[in-house]
Amino acid sequence: MIFNYRINKVKKLSKIITLIIIICLFSNGNFIKVSKNSSLSEKFKNYFFVGAAINKDQILQKDEKSNSIIKQNFNTLSPENVMKWMFIQPKPNIFYFDDSDKYVQFGLDNNMHIVGHALIWHSQIADFMNSIKDSTEMMQHVNNHISTLVNRYKGKVDTWDVVNEALNEDGTLRESIFLKVLGENYLETVYKMAEKHDSSADLAYNDYNLCEPKKRKGAIKLIESLQKNGAKINSVGIQAHWQLTSPSLEEIETSILAFSKLGVKVMFTELDISVLPSPWDENGAEVSQNFKNFEGDKKMNPFPKNLPNSMKTKLAERYENIFKLFLKHKEKISRVTFWGVTDKFSWLNDWPIKGRTNYPLLFDRNYKEKKAYHRIMNLNMPNN
Ligand code: G3I
Repeated sequence: MIFNYRINKVKKLSKIITLIIIICLFSNGNFIKVSKNSSLSEKFKNYFFVGAAINKDQILQKDEKSNSIIKQNFNTLSPENVMKWMFIQPKPNIFYFDDSDKYVQFGLDNNMHIVGHALIWHSQIADFMNSIKDSTEMMQHVNNHISTLVNRYKGKVDTWDVVNEALNEDGTLRESIFLKVLGENYLETVYKMAEKHDSSADLAYNDYNLCEPKKRKGAIKLIESLQKNGAKINSVGIQAHWQLTSPSLEEIETSILAFSKLGVKVMFTELDISVLPSPWDENGAEVSQNFKNFEGDKKMNPFPKNLPNSMKTKLAERYENIFKLFLKHKEKISRVTFWGVTDKFSWLNDWPIKGRTNYPLLFDRNYKEKKAYHRIMNLNMPNN
């Protein structure tokens, strides 16, 4: 009697377990596929590089968990900060190569496509550059900086972001120290300098908000003018610091088509998607904006502990749609790089408002793959 009762109980339990498994497999009406690929770079290897910007701890191999994600999932690297002018040449002709050498070695050891970021950028520049008023003097420093870096990493850095963020939102040239002191021709000059020191490296122009019509137009003009004046330019880097709904897929597609028409490859170089409220109407990554008055404001930091499921799904859908579009234009795109590895260290936790908890990447704070990661990994691939 007791024995029969137990058997019935076990049968009932196994029915319940089977039911749970079926529900899990068909949750939301979608069959949960187990992806065949083991990593992001493997998944897209026939089409474009997939990578991440890495920080100093990752370069110095101090963050084992991130490092294993990097080695498994990416085949291209960008240096989040260590190659910027203020760190690499803080004083005239005093260069610090410890970190950048290690960065490049990390890429070489793992057979990765190595990006140099960035030779000429008005931000994170050494202080001494900001006080130079004479064009000959500034040109000497620019030449010294470019020739020293490009020669040191000749044959190792595959792509240089030669100029970063030279445009205003309306598409005109930004009044940077380079424009002010050297004049418009500085653009053509620096691309020619970079080519002179490593003619086989790919040379890129990199900027944010390049899916906004006016800025896109400005970038097209800039690239056309470089081409007309005989400067080498291989690719355009659309930074891709995006939001859940903006820019629209249509605007992204328009940019892919417009830039590739110029004969340059399109790269998405700093991809991340903020899920937090924006303190201003514009998008993008203008680093000088300051929103101190919002610090500690709970409205502006709505998910300090966890991202609700509904938001996780929104983020996953956004990433899925973006990668579908990338696959649609796979022959025009050469690289997709995330700006960071896990949410834990994303610059978006501190920008544009310090001390928030953002969730912009594919790996969470516990180094686990997010729903967005699985959506991308489960995408159907083109037949060719
Ligand atoms: O080096 C100092 C360190 O000495 C100090 O102790 C520490 C305290 O906060 O700050 C360190 O400097 C930080 C620097 O990153 C290096 O870690 C700055 O505060 C911080 O503002 C800076 O942020 C970087 C930002 O560029 C600066 O503009 C972000 O990490 C980096 O992700 C971001 O990257 C840029 C791309 O290069 C170009 N496109 C936009 C993108 C996002 O702004």
